[in-house]
Amino acid sequence: MEVMWVDKHKPESLDEVVGHDYAVESLKEMVDQGLYDHLILSGPPGTGKTTILELLAKEILKDTFKHNHFMFNSSDERGIDVVREDITDKASQSPMGADWKIIIMDEVDGMTSEAQQALRGTIEEYQDNCLFFMTANFSNKVIDAVGGSRVTERKIGPVDRDSMRERLEYILDQEGQNLPDDLMEALLDYGESRNGDLRSTIKRLQIAVIDYKYAEVDKERIKEELKYFSSSKMPINKMIKFASKGNFTKVDKMIRRLIVSGASHGEIFEEVSNYVLIADDISDHVKANVLEACARGSDACNRGARPRTQLNYLMVNFADSGRKGKRDVFDDSQRIDKDQIKKNVSGKLKSMNGGNSDKKNDKKNSSASSGDDNTVTNLKL
Ligand SMILES: Nc1ncnc2c1ncn2[C@@H]1O[C@H](COP(=O)(O)OP(=O)(O)OP(=O)(O)O)[C@@H](O)[C@H]1O
Ligand SMILES: [Mg+2]
Repeated sequence: MEVMWVDKHKPESLDEVVGHDYAVESLKEMVDQGLYDHLILSGPPGTGKTTILELLAKEILKDTFKHNHFMFNSSDERGIDVVREDITDKASQSPMGADWKIIIMDEVDGMTSEAQQALRGTIEEYQDNCLFFMTANFSNKVIDAVGGSRVTERKIGPVDRDSMRERLEYILDQEGQNLPDDLMEALLDYGESRNGDLRSTIKRLQIAVIDYKYAEVDKERIKEELKYFSSSKMPINKMIKFASKGNFTKVDKMIRRLIVSGASHGEIFEEVSNYVLIADDISDHVKANVLEACARGSDACNRGARPRTQLNYLMVNFADSGRKGKRDVFDDSQRIDKDQIKKNVSGKLKSMNGGNSDKKNDKKNSSASSGDDNTVTNLKL
């Protein structure tokens, strides 16, 4: 049990990759026909993008794989110098005993746009004997230069429930283990809630087996914990409440638990943004501050900042926003009663128009006055 299953059971051939039959079959066919192309696989985390590219490179390079492939993690090595020096250096070397060198670049969406521009030049210059295989979580962050016509983009979506089940059952079988059906369903619920992230689901599978079989933890508790770590169930509202009351020890603990459970900083920032956007008891003023802090924090993490620090900073922002706006983020007395405001505004407008207001006028006039009346501004919530 001492080895992480996610590494131990990394697929050894493309046939072992689950959930992406169409993309995998089509890539294999291209290799069979000798139609090699630069590739970018885009999609959510933990779904097999890097694994597929490595296995594809093995199929192409066969026993020369070791000498002719190079791997760069672009989120660690994201600046222009890496492209100018390291990547260009590797791309310029002639293949050894094969027709191609293959450079695999993980997470190119983490590279600066300057570096992506430079990469375009490198791809153009060395494309005759070097294939560039890339992955990205957000293909919209990969500028046209890299993701454009020189490179074929394939989508690798979330791993679906049945495919996750197939892989989890295979791993249990290989390990000579089993779990009750309802625990397996709870793991699959967890996997689905995390956008088909098979990596974190395999990690939770291993933890579930340790807890249930060895630590003899009650399975209802294990299910509860899986629910707690489901991304749709991230305790964002609790974190915000504690933060707005200044209880940062508790907030930090929750952030740490989320990170340890495999939630990426991107997912946590995204959950906070989604939560804040639709919350009707958070003022526009606080929403704007927090959404900006989410964008900055996520960007800083992509540049290498520590997620835990950035997330704590984001939470401080809730407390700050509450103070600056002279109200607690969740102060119920500050809750905006939109219907009441609409009634007040429509009453005001009626009296301004000499009581002659129809629906159309109400709408027109309320938007016309929304810039300078704080009460009316809140109508835009
Ligand atoms: N489709 C899959 N089939 C089989 N195993 C998978 C699959 N997806 C993920 N895994 C498991 O998860 C591990 C991590 O997958 P991988 O690194 O390829 O994900 P990724 O999509 O590149 O993630 P990221 O976007 O975070 O880089 C693999 O080693 C493997 O154990
Ligand atoms: Mg990857």
